[in-house]
Formats: sequence, structure tokens, C-alpha cells
Amino acid sequence: MKGVFSMDIVERVLITEEEIQNRIKELAAQINKDYEGKEVLLLCILKGGMMFLADLSKHLTIPVAMDFIGISSYGNATQSSGVVRITKDLEESIEGKHVLIIEDIIDSGLTLSYLINNLAIRKPASIKICTLLDKQINREVDIPVDYVGFTVPNEFLVGYGLDYQEFYRNIPYVFVLKPKYYTE
Ligand code: IMP
Ligand code: MG
Repeated sequence: MKGVFSMDIVERVLITEEEIQNRIKELAAQINKDYEGKEVLLLCILKGGMMFLADLSKHLTIPVAMDFIGISSYGNATQSSGVVRITKDLEESIEGKHVLIIEDIIDSGLTLSYLINNLAIRKPASIKICTLLDKQINREVDIPVDYVGFTVPNEFLVGYGLDYQEFYRNIPYVFVLKPKYYTE
């Protein structure tokens, strides 16, 4: 059956559940400090950002609202296509709001670069980026990333929101997928 999880598909565990949760607490503490006295709109990028949003937001003590935007740049391939499209737009206006983008991973940066340009036109008070993972070595466009959980190597990563063909987002840690699963 497709999408069944077993250790057979795991090349190695890159970031354990405990490491993720500890780092999230540190990021939340920093965000609480930086946004003290402000209201923040957490803008989650679907679908990968949802685990991170859920866990991070539990540790935020500042007032937060949440909204969701669906963006697709990958199809089912494992390489960035550079073609970005909004599959689900925000429900509320962001005008005058402090927007904190919550993303699972930044790879080429093409997705976020497009999104930031799109959001800037809507006149938010500020836009910052918070990503759990940063595949910095693959960056093709320069974007300012304000909060990074972990800098990661250029391998195909799965789990904790990241999918392979829509599966495994629910796995509570980040692992390297055995290359034979996406090269064949
Ligand atoms: P970018 O536009 O190249 O920065 O791609 C960003 C998006 O590609 C992320 O939001 C992910 O959905 C996806 N992505 C990039 N690297 C990986 C990976 O290693 N595993 C799963 N998805 C990835
Ligand atoms: Mg994504």
C-alpha cells in the first residue's frame, strides 16, 4: 500500500522530535521578546508549515492570530520548478498587521520570494520569515530570513510537515528519504 511508513524508507534521522521541540521553544522565546507589545499574524504556508505552526504557537505569549495560504511550487517532483501558484488565499486583509510567515523549509527561496512580493502589495506593517529548516546551500534568490530552526544539507527531507508525494507529513521528526525511493 502506498504511503505506509516504515524504517525501510529512512536513510537516517536528521533531526529528532526532541531536538525539534527544544529548538521551537528557543525560537518562541525570541519571537515573544522581539514582538513584545505587538499583535502578530502568524501566516502559515500550507501544507508543510502546519506542524511547525501548531507547536511554535503553543509557546507564544504575545497575542497571535493565524491565517493560512496555500502555495505550490513543486508538483510531485523533488526539485524546485520555480513555478509558483497560490492554491488557497488568505481569508483576512493583512493591511497594517505584523505578519510572521511560518514555513517548513526554504530551499531555492523562489516560493517565498514570490510570496513576499505578493504580500508587500497588501500593505502589512511588517513582514518577517520564520522557517524550521533552511537549505541555505540551494538558495537562488536572496531573501531575508529572520528566524531559522536548523540549517540543513542538500538532501531530500521528509517528516514534520514535509512530504514525499503527500505522505509522511505526520512523522514527528525529520529524516532523509532513501534516494532509491525518489530516483527510481
Ligand atoms: P523553494 O521555492 O525552492 O524555496 O521551495 C520551498 C518549498 O519546497 C518548501 O515549502 C517545500 O514544500 C518544498 N521542499 C523543499 N525542499 C524540500 C525537501 O527536502 N523535502 C520536502 N519538500 C521540500
Ligand atoms: Mg511547502
